Amino acid sequence: MNVTIIGTGYVGLVSGACFADFGHTVTCVDKDAAKVERLNAGEVPIYEPELDRLLEANRAVGRISFTTDPADAVGKADVVFLAVGTPSRRGGGHADLTYVYEATREVAALVKGYTVICTKSTVPVGTGDEVEAIVRQVAPDADVDVASNPEFLREGAAIGDFKRPDRVIVGAETERAIGVMRELYRPLFLNETPIIFTSRRTAELTKYAANAFLATKITFINEMADLCERVGANVQDVARGMGLDKRIGAKFLNAGPGYGGSCFPKDTLALAATANDYNSPVTIVDSVVEANARRKERMAQIVIEAAGGSVKDKTVAILGLTFKPLTDDMREAPSLTVVPMLQKAGAIVKGYDPEGMDEAAKQLDMHYASGTYEAIKGADVTVILTEWNEFRALDLLRVKAMMRGDVLVDLRNIYSADAAARAGLAYRSIGRTDAP
Ligand code: UGA
Repeated sequence: MNVTIIGTGYVGLVSGACFADFGHTVTCVDKDAAKVERLNAGEVPIYEPELDRLLEANRAVGRISFTTDPADAVGKADVVFLAVGTPSRRGGGHADLTYVYEATREVAALVKGYTVICTKSTVPVGTGDEVEAIVRQVAPDADVDVASNPEFLREGAAIGDFKRPDRVIVGAETERAIGVMRELYRPLFLNETPIIFTSRRTAELTKYAANAFLATKITFINEMADLCERVGANVQDVARGMGLDKRIGAKFLNAGPGYGGSCFPKDTLALAATANDYNSPVTIVDSVVEANARRKERMAQIVIEAAGGSVKDKTVAILGLTFKPLTDDMREAPSLTVVPMLQKAGAIVKGYDPEGMDEAAKQLDMHYASGTYEAIKGADVTVILTEWNEFRALDLLRVKAMMRGDVLVDLRNIYSADAAARAGLAYRSIGRTDAP
C-alpha cells in the first residue's frame, strides 16, 4: 500500500519507519525543508533506539522517502496519516488543532481516488468530525473517508511498541475504510495483535482515557510513597503486592519524581478541558494533574531537606535531566521544576544526562558536566532524577570519594540504604522505610 504521513515528529517518523518495515511504501511530508534534507541524508533528528537502523534499511530499498511537497505523495496515497503536533493551547489546556486542520485543508485539495485520511496524533473527541467537515468543504467531490488511529507507543521503546503493540484501535465509520485499515495492519495479524474497530469518537476518547489512567496509576503510587514515609512502610513492596493482582497489574507503579513527557501532562489537561466542555467533569484526572505538579516541587524540597535544610552555596549534581531514560526529550521533565527551585534556594547546580544535554541547555541555565563522575566531582549532594542505565550501577565508594559532601538523593529508588551506608553516604530515597 501507499502510505503518506504528514508530520515527521516522534509519532510520524516512528510510524513511517515501521509501516515501511511492514512492506508498505511510505512518504513522509514535512514543511521543514532543513529537516527533510537531513532525513534524506540519513540523519535522524530525534534519539530513539533502533530508529536510525530501521529508517536506513528501508530508505536503502526505497520503501521510505521524505519530501516537503505533499502533492505527489497525497495523490498516490491509499492512506494519509495526520501526525502533526497538537500542543496545549495557552490557558485552559485544550489541544491546539491549528496544524491538524491546516494539514487537512492541504491534503483534501490534493487527494486523488479513494483515500482514507486518518488522524494519528492524539486529538480530542470530535476532531475526526471536524476533519471530515473540512474535507467536504474544501473538496466536495473527493472520495475520502476519515478515520482515527491513535498511537500508543512510548518514547524510548517506540519501535517495539509499534511493531508488537498490545492492541491497535481504529475508529472508522465505513466498511471501505475498515477494509483499508485492516490491510494496512495485516502484518500484525501474524502475531495475533487485537485490532479493535470502533467509532471515530470512541477511538479518540480511548487514547485519552488510556493516558489519563496511566497518569493516575503513577500519581496514585506516588501518593502512596508519601504515605509510606509517614507510616513507616515500603512503597516498592506495596506496589509489588498490589501489582500481582492481575486486575491491577504491576506496570506503571514505580514511584518517582512525577510524570513528565510530551503526552501525559498535555493529554490529562486536554481530557479535563473536553470533559468540562461537555459538562461531565473528570474530577480524578483534575486531582492527578494537581498532585503531579505539586510532586515535582516537593522533589526540590526533599533535596533541600536531605541537604540538612539548606542548599545555599552548596553544589548539587543532578544525574538525569530528560523526563525518562532512552530519550533526549526534555518536555515537562521534572528537572525543569527541580533545577530552578534548587538554584533559587542558592544551590550551584551541575547536571549530566547521557542524551539530553543539548535539549536541556536550551531550557536550563546551569553547569553541565561531560560525564557522570564529572558531575559528581566536588558535589555536596548528588541527586538521581532519571533512571538511565548508567546511573544504575554506580560505584558508590567512588561516588563518595569524589563528592565533597555525602548526600545521595535517589528519586528513582535504584539503590538500597544498606549499599549507600556501606559507602558512607547519607541516603534519601522515596517511599521506603529506609528513607529517613
Ligand atoms: C506515554 C504512554 O506510556 C504511551 O502509551 C503513549 O503512547 C504516549 O505517552 C503518548 O501518548 O504518546 P511516554 O510519554 O513516552 O509514553 O513515556 P512513559 O514511559 O509512559 O513515561 C511517562 C512518564 O511517567 C515519565 O516521566 C516516567 O518517568 C513516568 N513514570 C512511568 C513513572 O514515574 N512511574 C512509572 O511506573 C512509569
